[in-house]
Amino acid sequence: MDKVGIGLVGCGTVGSGLVRNLPEANRLLQQRLGVGLEIRAVAVRNPAKKRENLPVQPVADWRSVVSNPSVQIVVELLGGTTESLEVAKAAVAAGKPLVTANKALLAERGAELIPLAQKARVPIYFEASVAGGIPVLKALREGLVANQLLGLHGIINGTCNYILSRMAEEGSDFSSALQQAKELGYAEADDRLDVDGIDAAHKAAILCLLAYGFLPPFPKVPVEGIRNLSAQDVSFARQLGYAIKLLAVVRPVGPERVEVRVSPTLIPARHPMASVHGVFNAVGLVGNLSGPVQFTGRGAGPDATSSALLADLGEAARHLQDKSPGPVLPSGGEKIRLIEPGDSVGRFYVRFEVRDQPGVLAQIAGIFGAEKIGISSVLQPEGHGADSVPLVFLLEAARESALQKAIAAVQKLALNRAPARVLRVEDLA
Ligand SMILES: NC(=O)c1ccc[n+]([C@@H]2O[C@H](COP(=O)([O-])OP(=O)(O)OC[C@H]3O[C@@H](n4cnc5c(N)ncnc54)[C@H](OP(=O)(O)O)[C@@H]3O)[C@@H](O)[C@H]2O)c1
Repeated sequence: MDKVGIGLVGCGTVGSGLVRNLPEANRLLQQRLGVGLEIRAVAVRNPAKKRENLPVQPVADWRSVVSNPSVQIVVELLGGTTESLEVAKAAVAAGKPLVTANKALLAERGAELIPLAQKARVPIYFEASVAGGIPVLKALREGLVANQLLGLHGIINGTCNYILSRMAEEGSDFSSALQQAKELGYAEADDRLDVDGIDAAHKAAILCLLAYGFLPPFPKVPVEGIRNLSAQDVSFARQLGYAIKLLAVVRPVGPERVEVRVSPTLIPARHPMASVHGVFNAVGLVGNLSGPVQFTGRGAGPDATSSALLADLGEAARHLQDKSPGPVLPSGGEKIRLIEPGDSVGRFYVRFEVRDQPGVLAQIAGIFGAEKIGISSVLQPEGHGADSVPLVFLLEAARESALQKAIAAVQKLALNRAPARVLRVEDLA
C-alpha cells in the first residue's frame, strides 16, 4: 500500500525526535494499523543548519510544505501562537489533517482554530500537546468516553515537578533548584512558561476541552506558579503530612460551571501522586463508571513526545486510507462557563508571620470562626526566637471569598508582621 506523505513544519527538539523514531515506528504502524508514513517535505527557520537523518532537503518556506501535493498530513512543531496558527489555518484550508504538539496554540488560539477545522471537516490531532508519552487525551476520547467525569487533576509540568522534588528531597530553595534544572537541561533559559504555571495551564485548558467539551477562555484561567514558593512552606507541609506539587485541577462545580486552575498545592504525602518525582507527569481522573484512574509517565522529551505524535500520525493515516472523517473535536460545552474565582470552595494552608505573644492564636482562630472557617491543624514551630514567628493553619473547606475576608482581617491586626502565604490543599480522595 502507498505510504502517506508527511510535511513537517518545524524540526527542532521534537521534530528531530520524530524523524529519528519514524523508521522503527513505521514497521510497527504497518504491522498494527496497515499504514506507512513518509516524510516528504520539511520547513525550518534555518535550512543551512546541519541536521541528521532528514530524508529531504529542508526549506525555509513552510507554505510550500503545506501546499506540496505529495504532503497529505501536516505536522506543526514550531511552537508559539502566531505563525503556528497560520500554519494550522493553511493546513485546514488545504483540507489536510493537522498533527500538533503545540499546547499554547490550542489553549490560546483554539477558539479561532477549532471552529474553522470543524466547518472544513478537517481533523486536528493533538495527543502530544498534553503529558508527552501519557496517552491521556486518547483515554478521555475513547476508553472513558461513556463516563461522566467527576474531576481531573494533574502534575503536568515536568520542570516544576523536578524543582519541587529537589526542594522536598534536599531542602533546597527555589533558585538553586531552578539552577540545577537548567544545568540538567530540564528548564529553558527563559523559564517563565514553565515556572509561572502557564504551560501547565495550557494543558489544563486542553484537558477541560476533552473532558467537558469546553475550552476555557485562557486569560481567565487562574494560574499561580512556583516562583514564590519557599523551602519553609515545603518543610511545614511535610510536617503536616503533605507534599507540595504544581497541580492542575479541572472539575465540574454545579450545573454548567467548571473550575480550572493551576497552583502549587498540598496533596497528602501518602497519595500515589505525591510519589511522582522529578520530570515525570501524572494525571488522575474520576469517571462515574470507571472510578479513579491514574496515569504516570514521561511528560516531555523527544522520545515520549514522538510516541504521541506517531500514534496520532498512525491514526490520521488510517483515517485517510479508509476515507473516514477522523475524530470529531469535542463539543457539547457551549453553555459551560468558568466559575468566578471567589466562588471556589476548597481547603487551604495559610502561614502568617506574627508577633510572638500570648493570645495570638486565639485572636486569629476567632477571625476564622467569624467567617465559619474550621481549622483542622495548627503548626507553631518553636525556636525561632525572633519577634516574628510563623503560625501555620490547615483549614477545613471554605469559600475563597470568605478566606480572603478572614486573611484581610488578620492582616489588619497589630500582631501581623508580613503578608500571609496561602496555598491550596487537595485531599484527592
Ligand atoms: N520539547 C519538548 O519536550 C516538547 C514536549 C511536548 C510538546 N512540545 C511542543 O512541541 C513544539 C515544538 O517544540 P520544540 O521543543 O521542538 O521546539 P524547538 O526545538 O524550538 O523547534 C522549533 C522548530 O521550528 C522551526 N521554526 C521556527 N520558526 C520557523 C519558521 N518561521 N518557519 C519554519 N520553521 C521554523 C525551528 O527551525 P530551526 O531548527 O532552524 O531553528 C525548529 O526546527 C512546541 O509547541 C512545544 O510546546 C515540546
